[in-house]
Amino acid sequence: MNSNVPEKGRPFEEILKELENFGKDDPKYKEAKTWSLVYYLNEEYTQFLNDAYSKYFSANGLNPTAFKSLKRLEKEVLRFTADLFHVDYEACGVMTSCGTESCMLAVKTYRDLGRSKGIKKPEMIIPETAHVAWDKGAEYFGVKIRRAPLDENWQVDVKTVEKMINKNTVMILGSAPEYPHGIIDPIEKLGKLAVAHKVPLHVDSCVGGYILPFMEMAGIDVPVWDFRVEGVTSISADIHKYGFAAKGASCILYRNIDYFRHQVFANQDWPGGVFASPAFLGTRPGGAYAAAWAAIQANGIEGYVSLAKKTIEVSNLLKEEICKIGCFEIIGKPIVSLLAFRSIDKDVNIFAVGDVMEEKGWHIDRLQMPDALHAMVTAPHEKVIEAFITDLKDAVQTVREHPELAEEGQAATYGMISHIPLRGMVRKQVIDIFAESYKLNATEIDLSDSSAVAPGGGDSEAGKKSLVDKIIAWYVKKKS
Ligand SMILES: Cc1ncc(COP(=O)(O)O)c(C=O)c1O
Repeated sequence: MNSNVPEKGRPFEEILKELENFGKDDPKYKEAKTWSLVYYLNEEYTQFLNDAYSKYFSANGLNPTAFKSLKRLEKEVLRFTADLFHVDYEACGVMTSCGTESCMLAVKTYRDLGRSKGIKKPEMIIPETAHVAWDKGAEYFGVKIRRAPLDENWQVDVKTVEKMINKNTVMILGSAPEYPHGIIDPIEKLGKLAVAHKVPLHVDSCVGGYILPFMEMAGIDVPVWDFRVEGVTSISADIHKYGFAAKGASCILYRNIDYFRHQVFANQDWPGGVFASPAFLGTRPGGAYAAAWAAIQANGIEGYVSLAKKTIEVSNLLKEEICKIGCFEIIGKPIVSLLAFRSIDKDVNIFAVGDVMEEKGWHIDRLQMPDALHAMVTAPHEKVIEAFITDLKDAVQTVREHPELAEEGQAATYGMISHIPLRGMVRKQVIDIFAESYKLNATEIDLSDSSAVAPGGGDSEAGKKSLVDKIIAWYVKKKS
């Protein structure tokens, strides 16, 4: 045995301590230093979710007739969501494990609905800014993507969408909002197209679904984006984002069963018994349903409204302060709590700023096309805005004084990857390197080390060189 499993089992306490230690270098989300990935309120609330999760830890939603408790929890979560999205209980839906699963299920559903109408070469029209889960769904389910460009407001260009609709179109998509820049597509206009051309319209509200309704209740101006728009046939929304549930909780709701039935899988001939399943997962974790239900009960409408209000105040302050620095601009006019900012000063490389901020302990995502930094804001970020802006000003100063930073670290990696013209080749390289990193003898992917050997060494290809080295080497070879 090469793995480090002990011959004899170890005491629980010792194992738990070691587990905790594994996370010592993880992003510092409890201090609100991460601007993506985690939706965290406080320790007491997290412990409460933990308790709720544990009560159904072993329960399995695979067979809805066995654990009636889970079916009830799921239904109550979905009814609450239906109320939020203004659809009656003719609506149909399921809880899923994540936004990606919800989006991919919609692709499968509309492909099969299309097939039932005789469409053999299904196509879907999605905005350029649609979440990558849609590309994944298209690839998995053999649906061709037609990518609609954006207009000057960074919203999908509805006129082009209309031109793209043809006899093979099985669905069109709008986001509320899209992840990269936090912009809401013009759902009402898309709804008109959907009705006129009789095509299904899905609204991807994975990130916005549990904040937009509460913003509206708080009196904030929000365009209509949900089932009130005629033509919207389904919506995906993640309770594990602004619903502040435990991870593993999203949902998809369809206006009625005529759509949803195409999502359901059944096999009547399996020797294990007649089998039916409403989503991708086989075993479905009961804990995630229980924690989602508990999160909704604990926050209540009032709690969510006050969180939404605070979140938008914090986002607005953040946008203002970023713009005041003078060398950045916010991309588009996001009204929700996600935003992207880019440099408008040629001496301030945005990715180098990202690297300096990371050294200061901030976890911040990089965007491409255009190059930018990203922030997903939550209410607890209120306590760090001042520190963040101070560090951001410092970072700008450092980058101005050290232009070489643009050619080092992650700035070099992101700068290069986002500007290499042969996108198909970049994709191939990324797949190779990513797959390598899953070899059991690989070291982790290192996005910042531009030295020849990644820390920790390792026997595999991925362990020998950092990502930046490999792509640079490949690109230089390609060009020469
Ligand atoms: C608009 C949108 N759709 C889909 C997803 C995918 O969600 P998940 O990461 O839970 O799979 C996200 C994630 O941020 C998103 O913002």
